[in-house]
Amino acid sequence: MQKPIVIFDSGVGGLSIYQEIKNRLPGLPVIYCSDNEGFPYGPRPESEVIERTLHCLEKLADQYKPSLVTIACNTASTISLPGARTLLDIPVVGVVPAIKPAGLASKIGCIGLLATPGTVKRQYTDQLIRDFANHCKVIRVGSSELVQLAEDHLRGKVVDPDTLKAILSPFFKANPMPDCIVLGCTHFPLLKEQLQQVISADMTWVDSGEAIAHRVERLLDMESMLEIGIIEKGKTSDIFVYSGSNETVDDLVPALKQMGFEEIREL
Ligand code: DGL
Repeated sequence: MQKPIVIFDSGVGGLSIYQEIKNRLPGLPVIYCSDNEGFPYGPRPESEVIERTLHCLEKLADQYKPSLVTIACNTASTISLPGARTLLDIPVVGVVPAIKPAGLASKIGCIGLLATPGTVKRQYTDQLIRDFANHCKVIRVGSSELVQLAEDHLRGKVVDPDTLKAILSPFFKANPMPDCIVLGCTHFPLLKEQLQQVISADMTWVDSGEAIAHRVERLLDMESMLEIGIIEKGKTSDIFVYSGSNETVDDLVPALKQMGFEEIREL
C-alpha cells in the first residue's frame, strides 16, 4: 500500500496546499490534520505553537507512518521546522511566505505581506525580506480576522466585502501602494477571489501553494511515484483528522466531502 503524506495546519488553511498537491498528484493519499484545539495559531506565543505542532506531528507519524510531512502553516513553519526535522526521520516541507517571487514580481519595488500577526513579526520573515526583497519597501499587515473569515467561508458563510476592504486598508493607504501582495497565510488563498474583487488596481497576488506541490513531488521517492501512477484518479481515500472537539468540524463536512475526503476522524 502506498504510504500517505501528512498535511498539517491549525485549521482549514492547509486545504489550499492540499488542493495544489492533489492537482499535481491526484493519486497521492493524504492525511490532512487540523489542530482545531489550538486554532488560531496567529496570536499564540511561539513556544506554544512549536509545542502543539511537534506534539501533533509526532502522533500523526506514529499513527499513519507517512512518507513525508508538509507543515502547511506559515505561522508554524517559520518557527517549528528545525524541531520537526529533528523529531521525524522523513522529509518535512515547510510553507513560508513567498517573499522571493514577490520581490521579483514587483515593478515598483513595493510589496505587501498579508499574514497572521505571528508571521509578520517573525525573525524568519525579517530574514526572508533581507535575503530576497531588500530592494523593496515591504508593508506588513497581520490579521487573525481574515483567518476566521476563511474558516467561515468554508462553512458556507458569505464574506462581507467591506470587512475585506477594512483589512486591506493599510495597503490602500500606503504610498506607494504595493503592486504585489504575498498571501503569507495558507488560509488566505481560500479567499483569493473575494480579495481580488475588492482591489480594483492591477495587483499581483502571490502564494506558496504551487511551489510546495512541486517540492513534494520532487521529494517523493521513485517507488511512491510508481505506486501513485497506478492509483486511479480520484480513488484515494483521503482522511481529515482533527485534534479537538468535533463541534467546529461538523459544519465543514460538505466542503470536505466536496474536496474528496472520505473519512473525518479525531487525531
Ligand atoms: N494557516 C496558518 C498560516 O498559514 C495559520 C492560521 C492561524 O491559526 O492563525 O499561518
